Amino acid sequence: MIFLVIGILVVLPHASAGSIKVAESYWTLKANELVVDEDMAKYGSKVLVPLVCGEAFEGQKIIWKRESREELPLQGNRVFVIVEERQGGTYTCYSTEGNYLNHTLVLVQWRYRKIIKGTPEKGYVHCSTNNYSGSFRCFWAWDETRAGKVAFIKITRSHIVGNISCSLDSSAGSITCQDHAYCPYAEEMDHIDLTIYFRSNYVIETYYLQFRISDIVRPDMVRINKKNNILELQYPESWSTPFSYFPLTFQVKEIRCRRKRICNCSNRRSAKVDLTQEQQWPLKKGVTVCVRAQDDLANSSWGEWSQYKKEKHKRQNKKDGLK
Ligand SMILES: *[C@@H]1O[C@H](CO)[C@@H](O)[C@H](O)[C@H]1NC(C)=O
Ligand SMILES: *[C@@H]1O[C@H](CO)[C@@H](O)[C@H](O)[C@H]1NC(C)=O
Ligand SMILES: *[C@@H]1O[C@H](CO)[C@@H](O)[C@H](O)[C@H]1NC(C)=O
Ligand SMILES: *[C@@H]1O[C@H](CO)[C@@H](O)[C@H](O)[C@H]1NC(C)=O
Ligand SMILES: *[C@@H]1O[C@H](CO)[C@@H](O)[C@H](O)[C@H]1NC(C)=O
Repeated sequence: MIFLVIGILVVLPHASAGSIKVAESYWTLKANELVVDEDMAKYGSKVLVPLVCGEAFEGQKIIWKRESREELPLQGNRVFVIVEERQGGTYTCYSTEGNYLNHTLVLVQWRYRKIIKGTPEKGYVHCSTNNYSGSFRCFWAWDETRAGKVAFIKITRSHIVGNISCSLDSSAGSITCQDHAYCPYAEEMDHIDLTIYFRSNYVIETYYLQFRISDIVRPDMVRINKKNNILELQYPESWSTPFSYFPLTFQVKEIRCRRKRICNCSNRRSAKVDLTQEQQWPLKKGVTVCVRAQDDLANSSWGEWSQYKKEKHKRQNKKDGLK
């Protein structure tokens, strides 16, 4: 009877550890942060992750705790911890006297896309800039049901040694980046590689984008000035100069809006949309003019529509109507 109990006690931990596989794929996100690639098909719901307290502690007696609380039945500098599904944690190692030595935060990367909103077709993270200054913004929408945050950003140029820095905006739903080595007057030969690691609890999701500044440039709204019966289409103030070197193409459409109804250029179809580089547009009676711009030399997005509507009352300021 006694033998039997001892037998079970000895065998059980051994058997359970033996059936759990050791993770084959794990990587360092940043100092003291280890990410395990979750592959349930391969490992099942549990996986063994190897941790090292530190090279300096080889051969020493070491105690491990999870979340600084429960002491784990592990000893020594090199141990395996069991990670169950999405349950990572902070594993801290101490000397036998209880002195802190080091720690590792274990995170789990899964294949889902749940921390931020989007679809494979529409994308998840979108980057855009309003000129060729080397600065750009990338934004996304958080899923409200998850406490997501940015865990890490990796950004480089594909070939040349770049120097791009990014910072999280106060809204936390976007980052602003600056390519310090970017030259607006030279052809952009290589592209930017951007990886954003989002974290929610112990889960990591990785989003990767590759683009050139010229792919994501989107001019701000065109300024419209009326002179006599001519509309002057002016380059956005934020657009790169000289304008002759950074030409824009305008798209112009004329719509008729019924009185009192909100006139919206974005959801009004027009039979005819004109493309022009001319900065002058003759104003016709009774129409609202919609104008937007695109970089003439790149195939990137159109800007937001500006609209010009002639006021009914002659006394009112003609310059109004800019939208
Ligand atoms: C603590 O662990 C990290 C990796 O998890 C390692 O790079 C570092 O050298 C360790 N610190 C010491 C003092 O050994
Ligand atoms: C990157 O550019 C910034 C701003 O010009 C500069 O302060 C920083 O030293 C540069 N870093 C490297 C590694 O060149
Ligand atoms: C380019 O756009 C940025 C961000 O809007 C702005 O700060 C900068 O002044 C613009 N550059 C030029 C040359 O207008
Ligand atoms: C015009 O319509 C677009 C898209 O439907 C919308 O995002 C925008 O807010 C509208 N603008 C106005 C002034 O109603
Ligand atoms: C520009 O992009 C559109 C849609 O992405 C594509 O249909 C068109 O062929 C492209 N034009 C050029 C000149 O690359």
